[in-house]
Amino acid sequence: MKLVTLLSLTAVINCLYIPVPSECAGSTWLRIAENYLPKSVQNWLTTTDSIRNSDLNAWIEEQKEVSFRAILNNIGGVSEIYNVSQVAKGAVIASPLTQKPDYFYQWTRDAALTIKSLILEINDKEFEGVDDIISTVEAYIENNYYIQRLDNKSGKFNDENKDGLGEPKFLVNNKPFDKHWGRPQRDGPGLRVITVVSYINLLDKFDKGVSNEFLKSREFIYHKIIKPDLVYITRNWMKEGFDLWEEINAHHFFTSITQLAALKDGISIAGSFDSSTEFVETLKRTFESLKKFILSDAGFTINGLPYLIETPTLLKSGKRSGLDAAIILGALHSHNLEFGDFSDIPYDISDSPLLNTLSAMVADMKYRYPINHNRIGFGNPIGVGLGRYPEDVYDGYGTSEGNPWFLATASAAEAVYRFIYKLSLTEENLVIDTENREFFEDFIDFETVETDYLVIHFGSLAFKTLTRNLFGYSDSFLEVIKDHVGDDGSMSEQFNKYHGYMQGAEELTWSHSAVWNAFRWREKTEGLLRELEF
Ligand code: NOJ
Ligand code: NOJ
Repeated sequence: MKLVTLLSLTAVINCLYIPVPSECAGSTWLRIAENYLPKSVQNWLTTTDSIRNSDLNAWIEEQKEVSFRAILNNIGGVSEIYNVSQVAKGAVIASPLTQKPDYFYQWTRDAALTIKSLILEINDKEFEGVDDIISTVEAYIENNYYIQRLDNKSGKFNDENKDGLGEPKFLVNNKPFDKHWGRPQRDGPGLRVITVVSYINLLDKFDKGVSNEFLKSREFIYHKIIKPDLVYITRNWMKEGFDLWEEINAHHFFTSITQLAALKDGISIAGSFDSSTEFVETLKRTFESLKKFILSDAGFTINGLPYLIETPTLLKSGKRSGLDAAIILGALHSHNLEFGDFSDIPYDISDSPLLNTLSAMVADMKYRYPINHNRIGFGNPIGVGLGRYPEDVYDGYGTSEGNPWFLATASAAEAVYRFIYKLSLTEENLVIDTENREFFEDFIDFETVETDYLVIHFGSLAFKTLTRNLFGYSDSFLEVIKDHVGDDGSMSEQFNKYHGYMQGAEELTWSHSAVWNAFRWREKTEGLLRELEF
């Protein structure tokens, strides 16, 4: 090795430690730090327009509209396909398919997550020209007042523990579903709280009132719809239930973390509406207990595994690895950067266990699904089609072999955009250590770094380069989606792992919503990077 290289290498390594030594003040070290980024990746930096990939942009522009319309078409009252005698006003169907598979129901989970996309759209449009979306969101809230109160196979609204609220799905005409199913699913009430509270926050932010005559006011919404769900969480969070994939009766990360976020939302607004300080205290106490459960007792982390475990009992029994897209979805849906401070909710997407979950999912599924094989070996970090979890056998109709899902793939894109967004917004230095190193393996040439503790300073050239490369990485997940949607922008639940054609429930509302969310975060992140002149 030439002396000069050796010297500069030593300088760089020193510069990578905190506190920043004085020799790092100049720009030379930054340029040298660039050398840690693999050559193939550096190309992305040198093409100034790299984050505006024109093909992808054009597709996103179109698909964003198509997906939004597809969401509305699956909601009673705004649908261009169904009238309200077919689908109740405000009911969100999971998919129009009534057989093979029959998804013509309203799932509490799918509906809450989808309506949140509409709320974000109202936010982005600042209440201008979105009257039909506002009335759709309010119709959804009204409709949930009715379905919350239906007696069903999970129980009744008035049961001491409000058991009826754990029912996962209802008919589209607001009748209970009375067949055999994986019930209760305890994530529904919390997801509904998160969605409805975000709407109340939006009304406050833009100083608007409730338009829907039945709902009347924020107070009504709080007392009649939000509070019962909060009560449900306080009485049931410690119990087992079926997971979001409706298969396993146990404790699950997704359920617990979204319940925790719902409690936080509850605490933030209960004070304004509830004269019962006792209830607010109960919420706070439950928040602490549930948080402790998540951080230690539940077994969502174990020594030796860098990623989080969705369902610890399945890992213990040796049935599953614990890896699951539900972890990423859980982090995304429990940290709403835009409506409040979520720093006291653990496991945001920027935290090491989350980044590690994402890289472990990619590492597994790029080999597991043959459709991803043509994306291996380019030297660039590149996104692949992701499924629910490695051991999945649900093929969208019955059981054979699992496939990649649109919503799982989109959640990876959204996660990485949000990671970049958060880093850039908070102007944090990026610290890469043994905890999160795995995620950056493809972005940084660690063989030349020779340190376990790398600090990439906010705003430095290395930081900008890495940010852009991460942006390209998120984009590459969207490219996978682009390759598999229908010519008309339609989206099913899954795409076949061998040939890539769509399968499972057609026009799945949640697929469109998840992809729309990823687009939205791309736009926001790109805007922020441009503002920062990155
Ligand atoms: C339908 C459920 O919705 C899905 O999540 C599950 O994997 C299959 N049934 C198989 O149990
Ligand atoms: C099956 C999925 O596993 C579940 O999460 C979802 O709620 C239903 N399908 C409806 O989309």
